[in-house]
Amino acid sequence: MKWILFFGALIGPSICGREKFFGDQVFRINVRGGDEISKLSQLLNSDNFKLDVWKSPSTFSHPVDVLVPSVSLQPVKSFLKSQALQYSVTIEDLQALLDKEDEEMQHNEGQERSNNNFNYGAYHSLEAIYHEMDNIAGEFPDLARRLKIGHSFENRSLYVLKFSTAEGKRRPAVWLNAGIHSREWISQATAIWTARKIVSDYGKDPAITSILEKMDIFLLPVANPDGYVYTQTKNRLWRKTRSLNSRSPCIGADPNRNWNSSFAGAGTSNNPCSEVYHGPHANSEVEVKSVVDFIQQHGNFKCFIDLHSYSQLLMYPYGYTVNKAPDAEELDEVARCAAKALASLSGTKYQVGPICTTVYPASGSSTDWAYDNGIKYAFTFELRDTGHYGFLLPANQIIPTAEETWLGLKTIMEHVRDHLY
Ligand SMILES: *[C@@H]1O[C@H](CO)[C@@H](O)[C@H](O)[C@H]1NC(C)=O
Ligand SMILES: *[C@@H]1O[C@H](CO)[C@@H](O)[C@H](O)[C@H]1NC(C)=O
Ligand SMILES: [Zn+2]
Repeated sequence: MKWILFFGALIGPSICGREKFFGDQVFRINVRGGDEISKLSQLLNSDNFKLDVWKSPSTFSHPVDVLVPSVSLQPVKSFLKSQALQYSVTIEDLQALLDKEDEEMQHNEGQERSNNNFNYGAYHSLEAIYHEMDNIAGEFPDLARRLKIGHSFENRSLYVLKFSTAEGKRRPAVWLNAGIHSREWISQATAIWTARKIVSDYGKDPAITSILEKMDIFLLPVANPDGYVYTQTKNRLWRKTRSLNSRSPCIGADPNRNWNSSFAGAGTSNNPCSEVYHGPHANSEVEVKSVVDFIQQHGNFKCFIDLHSYSQLLMYPYGYTVNKAPDAEELDEVARCAAKALASLSGTKYQVGPICTTVYPASGSSTDWAYDNGIKYAFTFELRDTGHYGFLLPANQIIPTAEETWLGLKTIMEHVRDHLY
């Protein structure tokens, strides 16, 4: 009997091969002044603790979230105590949350197989998302098309949904990007919900109808498909691409530090093992290069929006400098209106500001690249939540998040529609 159980455990479904996080916890550490930030950096930069920073120290004194492996719990607590740094535990048992998420996903997959219906309130495999994109294009052939804009490092297709009411014309266009950081699952889920929302509401909701009378929308729900598959098969917390590095055994680059906007500047690392490794050169990541080539070839993008999680922020350029973007005032006003519309649904509060001073310096980001390449209306959303679940936002928050985000997205797109340049 024992042996059967033992073998059963060894040959379970592939998800059992994922990295485990038994007893690991997420700490929220409160930092107030520069002195505390330097103490904290000492902790974060120490290789001994094997910490994974979920939310970095920001320019101002916002809390910092770190994943602490179970073996490091005692030493980290001692360090925090010795330095008089205050903290609380936001996630008591990471593996318990992962098990729950996994169980819900498997349960949903079974249900979807039997009723043949995509459940927008669940997380999905890459294959299921791609299949649903195909369904949408098939159901609305006059409004939506699925395009392949390239492939990933591991040769997975990069699919975009193009929404257009004037196929063949090169109308002003909006780029909606999601999932560039693979572990931010709420972004891919919000994106595919948004695709369905666009086709369902066209012709009914005057706002999206009039937006699509003037502009096309391109939506890339999974900008980093290799990373996304990896989060489901090997490590739920994978953020980067899966490209090989010639001078290191560490894998991948941060695809949101790889764009040609102050490449390798502040807020990046040249260490391939870092979570913010910028890659060997700008556009080295084929996923980034594919989007850049597509947007440049098209030549008429007016708006670029990148969906991330988490923190509830709506930001605009710049990330690579504290200097104000020439359009900062207008962008700030648009972002404030969008945040207000978003909050009108259920009170979710977003903070608004330029990337660099709202969070931290970040060079080589998609939004800065878009802005510096003539796409004035460039925004980054950090979706729900503020750290209670962090990257592991429960699936029952997908639809509430997507619905409120849609109000923000529409506000931005309406402004673009009325201020084409
Ligand atoms: C990549 O995938 C495409 C199909 O999507 C296939 O035709 C091609 O041979 C693949 N290339 C490699 C290097 O595997
Ligand atoms: C990056 O942009 C600069 C101009 O700002 C250009 O000279 C350079 O070739 C670009 N690099 C890549 C890899 O596209
Ligand atoms: Zn991100």
